[in-house]
Amino acid sequence: DSSPLTDLFGRHHNYLRISLTEKCNLRCQYCMPAEGVQLTPKQHLLTTEEVVQVARLFVKEGVTKIRLTGGEPTVRRDLVDIIASLKQINGLETVAMTTNGIVLTRQLVALQRAGLDILNISLDTLKPDRYEKITRRKGFDKVMMGIDLALQLGYSPVKINCVVMKGFNDDEINDFVKLTHDRNVDVRFIEYMPFSGNKWEMSKMVPYREMREIIKSVWPTFNELPNGPNDTSKAWKVPEYAGQVGFITSMSEHFCGSCNRLRITADGNLKVCLFGNTEISLRDAIRAGSSEDDLTALIEAAVKRKKRKHAGHKSRPQLYRFNINIPQNRTASH
Ligand code: GTP
Ligand code: 5AD
Ligand code: SF4
Repeated sequence: DSSPLTDLFGRHHNYLRISLTEKCNLRCQYCMPAEGVQLTPKQHLLTTEEVVQVARLFVKEGVTKIRLTGGEPTVRRDLVDIIASLKQINGLETVAMTTNGIVLTRQLVALQRAGLDILNISLDTLKPDRYEKITRRKGFDKVMMGIDLALQLGYSPVKINCVVMKGFNDDEINDFVKLTHDRNVDVRFIEYMPFSGNKWEMSKMVPYREMREIIKSVWPTFNELPNGPNDTSKAWKVPEYAGQVGFITSMSEHFCGSCNRLRITADGNLKVCLFGNTEISLRDAIRAGSSEDDLTALIEAAVKRKKRKHAGHKSRPQLYRFNINIPQNRTASH
């Protein structure tokens, strides 16, 4: 395969994640310090037009799914315009978004009308007090209403991302499973990952196998479902329940072999791996007036440098067995 988006290991990248902003209206403990992250000056961020231009370029080379992320993507004022413009790109099948869900009750109808196809919502606790502790903001009820609105509007399933941390919310795993009883939600338990400055500790990470056993002890028939070729999560289900459960095992069983994802940071850098620190600036190339061919060549060169798995230099001995390099991301994994 000679596509510019195919790497040296034969992985074809048809899924692009575009971060629209580093700003967020929450301050989740595992992601940001209380004072927030240092923001890139606005003129360095991709404009509405540049986002769409970058998207068009990638779709031309084979991307079929774009996910908008942040920070928190809904704080971008031009979000509806961006979605509507993306939906006009020929060949792009899916526009998805990952959000903390705080403003969905206000924005989702407009976002859906603009064409938003898929919605993933981050929620780490079902207890309002604890929500405030984890996110350092109020808003639990709004997120729950946002989830129910999304279901009503026909998002099906709604994926709920739950980062599990020992001593923090691991006592709620089975409560989250109960949420799948009569709602068509896909609750995905995520192994806590290290990012620069997020105070990650091995002892706070709950491995997938442990989570699975906690659930099996209550629901012995909890069973595994087949997965799609590029899924980040392993799908499971309590047989009679409406929804599903998933596990995102970035730490204990990485899924780099089937990675089909590339990322654009809010300031227009291409990142070929979540755990990689090499970034190349598409924004600078665009603003310098590069031709489409030059941009494609730049992208291709970066893709061909993508490593087989997230690895490389190990800065912390306890991470040896995970082969992980702590990325210098400004916000967590969005
Ligand atoms: P779907 O497209 O619905 O499968 O969602 P997704 O899992 O690709 O994206 P989402 O934004 O919902 O992210 C869920 C979790 O998966 C987060 O914790 C991400 O950090 C993690 N994740 C997303 N992409 C990657 C990746 O390329 N590598 C790793 N290791 N984790 C990822
Ligand atoms: N480890 C695992 N997942 C994380 N996320 C944010 N920070 C981390 C982390 N340290 C999740 C968010 C969101 C998704 C995009 O990434 O909760 O759902
Ligand atoms: Fe915001 Fe997401 Fe970070 Fe939480 S994890 S502070 S919702 S960017």
